[in-house]
Amino acid sequence: MRVLGLETSCDETGVALYDSEHGLLADALFSQIDLHRVYGGVVPELASRDHVKRMLPLIRQVLDEAGCVPQQIDAIAYTAGPGLVGALLVGASCAQALAFAWGVPAVGVHHMEGHLLAPMLEEQPPQFPFVALLVSGGHTQLVRVDGIGRYQLLGESLDDAAGEAFDKTAKLLGLGYPGGPEIARLAERGTPGRFVFPRPMTDRPGLDFSFSGLKTFALNTWQRCREAGDDSEQTRCDIALAFQQAVVETLTIKCRRALKQTHLKNLVIAGGVSANRALREHLQKMLGELKGQVFYARPRFCTDNGAMIAYAGCQRLLAGQHDGPAIDVRARWPMESLPAV
Ligand code: KG4
Ligand code: ZN
Repeated sequence: MRVLGLETSCDETGVALYDSEHGLLADALFSQIDLHRVYGGVVPELASRDHVKRMLPLIRQVLDEAGCVPQQIDAIAYTAGPGLVGALLVGASCAQALAFAWGVPAVGVHHMEGHLLAPMLEEQPPQFPFVALLVSGGHTQLVRVDGIGRYQLLGESLDDAAGEAFDKTAKLLGLGYPGGPEIARLAERGTPGRFVFPRPMTDRPGLDFSFSGLKTFALNTWQRCREAGDDSEQTRCDIALAFQQAVVETLTIKCRRALKQTHLKNLVIAGGVSANRALREHLQKMLGELKGQVFYARPRFCTDNGAMIAYAGCQRLLAGQHDGPAIDVRARWPMESLPAV
């Protein structure tokens, strides 16, 4: 089965073609980062308008790259939520219109399920069951995964998502958007131990997270330094490192706890923050101690992309699931409500 995948939930237009027998045939991405950078975050209306502009040329590009004509496409998968409603509507309308025109089924994919399954596109995919840490700009969740659509939420952030904390901390340090890669870049030059940030909610049982306090801690630290006349680049790097270490260690502690609690050995990390090198290294070390394994996608498929949507949609279509012709998107959509495959 050959599935065209469309991703438009936020600020990247992603298009890909996935074949259940031959794997990924082509994928293309247009990132709107430059468009939103001046505003320090995503402006929803601008995002929607840009998806409209990019979608059809990207679809043509992907079909050309794969050497494929519309008659060879068996179905269309699109992100139906969660995300920005206006942005989602662009992908959903486009998918439903093409599905109608080409006479093929369309399936709405849950964006976080797309992220969760992205490591399946790699050479050594994880086997079910496993624990998944989903860390993106909008979500931080620990999930027990027994199969596609068989999800049990173990814990989640009570306030800011991990990626959101990276973005907000970067902004208050005067760094660019998105903040995750910027903080990671500065952290490489940071002085270990100069600042020590708290590890929120690790001193009590449970698998929930809270990251909004770290942003305030960073703000107070940065203000204190500036009041003392130190607004140097090095201090920014030192704060970036201390912040990143706190997030990474907190996530690692909770992942370890989740693995112990579920008696599972395999961990999947997915979503934009799973591209973070320090996080990968820390988790790898922890899993080494537990004699388990950590799985993640190549960096390009950690952040938003069309390939993960094409893959996730293909699995559901192969199981006989698809949607009617209604254009239906959701800003919020609990992943546990998805049907099992
Ligand atoms: O999954 P994603 O592309 O979009 C959402 O579904 O939200 O995740 C974007 C988030 C942003 O908050 C961004 O700052 C963060 O992922 N991110 C990173 C890194 N690359 C992206 N955070 C930390 N380190 C990175 N290398
Ligand atoms: Zn995402």
